[in-house]
Amino acid sequence: MKENYTICNCKKVTYFDIADALHDLENFDDVLRAFEDVQKVTHCSTGCGGCHQKVLDVISEILMGHEKV
Ligand code: FES
Repeated sequence: MKENYTICNCKKVTYFDIADALHDLENFDDVLRAFEDVQKVTHCSTGCGGCHQKVLDVISEILMGHEKV
């Protein structure tokens, strides 16, 4: 189990918040679309924007481990 940590300081969005938001998505093949959807749900990366790359990294990491059968 992965430990939780804050990804976006401005909006106080954590790794688990992003994982949860991704959980509700149906489309897992497009990181940028997933980013937009996660942003709508969590409002991450709507403050200073400094976490943008971090959020993208986390999303791709989660999506890659998300291979469903
Ligand atoms: S740290 Fe995420 S918008 Fe500033």
